[in-house]
Amino acid sequence: MYVLHVVGARPNFMKLAPVMRALASHQEIKQILVHTGQHYDPNMSDVFFQQLDIPAPDVNLGVGSGSHAAQTAEIMTRLEPVIIEQKPDIVLIYGDVNSTVATAMVCAKLNVRIGHVEAGLRSFDRTMPEEINRLVTDQIADFLFTPSQDGDENLQREGIPAEKIFCVGNVMIDSLVRLLPAARKNKVAESYERYALVTLHRPANVDNSERLKRILKSMTEVNQDLAVVFPAHPRTRKRIADFGLSAGQLYVLDPLPYVDFLGLQCRATVVITDSGGIQEESTYLGVPCLTVRENTERPITVSVGTNVLVGHDPNKLRAELSRVLNGNAKKGSVPPLWDGHTGERIADILAKQMTV
Ligand code: UD1
Repeated sequence: MYVLHVVGARPNFMKLAPVMRALASHQEIKQILVHTGQHYDPNMSDVFFQQLDIPAPDVNLGVGSGSHAAQTAEIMTRLEPVIIEQKPDIVLIYGDVNSTVATAMVCAKLNVRIGHVEAGLRSFDRTMPEEINRLVTDQIADFLFTPSQDGDENLQREGIPAEKIFCVGNVMIDSLVRLLPAARKNKVAESYERYALVTLHRPANVDNSERLKRILKSMTEVNQDLAVVFPAHPRTRKRIADFGLSAGQLYVLDPLPYVDFLGLQCRATVVITDSGGIQEESTYLGVPCLTVRENTERPITVSVGTNVLVGHDPNKLRAELSRVLNGNAKKGSVPPLWDGHTGERIADILAKQMTV
């Protein structure tokens, strides 16, 4: 069997690594890796390949940034000849970024089978670009690997046949489990005593000057109680500069390598974020998470884990932060199958199903 993986953006890499590793232990499987180049800064891409021990991509499409249409179209145009030439038996795609949906559309029209890792997540908010990517990708994929049961329910409701759906658990947690010992020894967290770890990059939060201003004001208030450590996405940094805003006394850092970020996360007093993956990582680590969004495509982090949606209401953020500081943070547990073995389950399913 010949498997071709396509990745493009930072949150894809920690999902790819465990699947590639697990497939490598099946001798009959040959693998090739394509990077679309959606993320291209070394600290958004290369450093993740090194730390996660992912082989260098066989092909880099070098698409870079652009509007949604331009970026998606460019990935499709550059990927199509690669798929035609390589003739893979299956193409694996990850998460919900533009590289994911672009690949799905190319492969579906070439009649190449598609496996979607992290299928079935839904925020039910179609103003989010990722929600469109999820809906389209899942409709045309052949193997849908979900992280939790709610994903299966979403897919079945949308008419996806049950035999295409495989609840395998959370593959990103495989990378976390593998690198947590290194993260616990990481020195970055030693620079701060008691801190809130903050990440923000959703267009809904950072592309609107008023909203970004209000969020930064809230973070400056948080900073009165504990240090705010803020590794900023290039998009966010750019917006802060474009809008003439200031991140004041916050510790604004460049994007961090995976192990450094995990080291900060596991020792944080609280995480404040609008990321999807960080809601899941903090749930696994048992660290309180306040999500600056009105909805989440990962509701299990709220129903089972440590996540609380604070939306865009500064009072709610303040109230939840007080709970954390008073020692009354929401307690959570680890969802089923978030056990570090999801990559192996995916590899076993593919090895079995693709040969019948
Ligand atoms: C993308 C994903 C988002 C994911 C996020 C994680 C989509 C629709 N969005 O958002 O789901 O949570 O990645 O990081 O695919 N830029 C750089 N260097 C880079 C990459 C980007 O400076 O290496 C800047 C550019 O100004 C670019 C902007 O960030 O225009 C946005 O990049 P883009 O890939 O369009 O989306 P993200 O915001 O990174």
